[in-house]
Amino acid sequence: MLVRPLTARRPASPLTGTVAVPGDKSISHRALMLGALAVGETRVSGLLEGEDVLRTAAAMQLLGASVERVGAGEWRVSGCGVGGLAEPQDVLDMGNSGTAARLLAGVLASHPVFAVMTGDASLRGRPMRRVMEPLAQCGARFAAREGGRLPMAIEGARDALPLDYVLPVASAQVKSAVLLAGLNAPGETRVEERQATRDHSELMLRHFGAVVTVEAHGAGRVIMLMGQPELVARDVAVPGDPSSAAFVIVAALLVPDSRVRIEGVGLNPLRTGLFATLREMGAALEVEAERQAGGEPAGDLMVTASALRAVDVPPERAPSMIDEFPILAVAAACALGTTRMRGLGELRVKESDRLAATAELLAVNGVKVEIDGDDLLIHGTGGRPPGGGLVPTHMDHRLAMSALVLGLAAAEPVRVDDAGFVDTSFPGFAELMRSLGADIA
Ligand code: S3P
Repeated sequence: MLVRPLTARRPASPLTGTVAVPGDKSISHRALMLGALAVGETRVSGLLEGEDVLRTAAAMQLLGASVERVGAGEWRVSGCGVGGLAEPQDVLDMGNSGTAARLLAGVLASHPVFAVMTGDASLRGRPMRRVMEPLAQCGARFAAREGGRLPMAIEGARDALPLDYVLPVASAQVKSAVLLAGLNAPGETRVEERQATRDHSELMLRHFGAVVTVEAHGAGRVIMLMGQPELVARDVAVPGDPSSAAFVIVAALLVPDSRVRIEGVGLNPLRTGLFATLREMGAALEVEAERQAGGEPAGDLMVTASALRAVDVPPERAPSMIDEFPILAVAAACALGTTRMRGLGELRVKESDRLAATAELLAVNGVKVEIDGDDLLIHGTGGRPPGGGLVPTHMDHRLAMSALVLGLAAAEPVRVDDAGFVDTSFPGFAELMRSLGADIA
């Protein structure tokens, strides 16, 4: 692949304008998978056309669904029905996407097919045992590389058993894999999570006609799915991804006198931990025109540049902002005082070791950071961080975008070694930022 270095520097004037960010990545994957498992034609609008989601589209096609792009973000999926997917005739290459790999492992676990799954060097380094273990209990068989890494072979169960599983880690991907496997098992599949994680699977399963019940259980939830439903094709309007909006929001907060409007952003309460945290730091971030989009809450965001102060982020908030710590770290680097983010162990197994890589991103730009167990401490500059660093992005889209946002706020330009992976979740990021007045070249 062609390496794409990029440099961001402090713009001469504020960021201003109105934009819409690409569709939600989590919801886009699920729309394609459930569309492929439903009977009839599902129409999806606002689908994220990033590399990760395109991998899911290609995989569902290899599994026998018809997946067709009919316009910008407009897709049609003709599904095979629950249990109706075909054996793929080739290896399923999930690229950079952990969500695609783990959710699809769940789907395949209860289909009587043999499949081999691989991914890029980043994905081949990520743990799959967390889905192999529960899915084996429904009767599926797995073989993978040392440490439960891809490539992995899956022999789906012919007569899958329903699962009853307590999540050992707070992971929406593992929860979703279990629920998707439960679709083609008789009776009730039950998942217990000690901390609530994003519930896009539960909401969309219901949208397609499955019976899903959710009960509060301490700080977490118990989710129950009735197996072998007939999923019926439904239209899905995908809201903008709050995890992508995060980069635009923090850029607008940090570039003096900026004022930016972001339209149609998903506001699922299990995704908005960053917004709460930024407000605690003093951010002027308003929600307007709240509405529903594709069965999910959405609204427009108004962001005004703000002086930020340090914050202590509690560990129980981590699941609702799990992908936002790198960009929060950039905000914290500009805030006054020392920010502590607690309970970030899961960041070690993202597209990169995001705990180490986020610390490195800041350190090479002259910001003082410490890793203390699973906590990240950032000594904010209360103004402009020095910058001037070259950031290694480790095949991680969110690190690349976070570093570029830092460059817009820092005294000296910030370079990234390769921004190519930005396309996995936010195609057109640099262009969108430039349309607001950012200097990214
Ligand atoms: C996702 C869940 C999260 C998140 C990822 C998307 C999902 O991963 O980091 O970007 O769509 O279910 P984990 O389940 O590993 O926390």
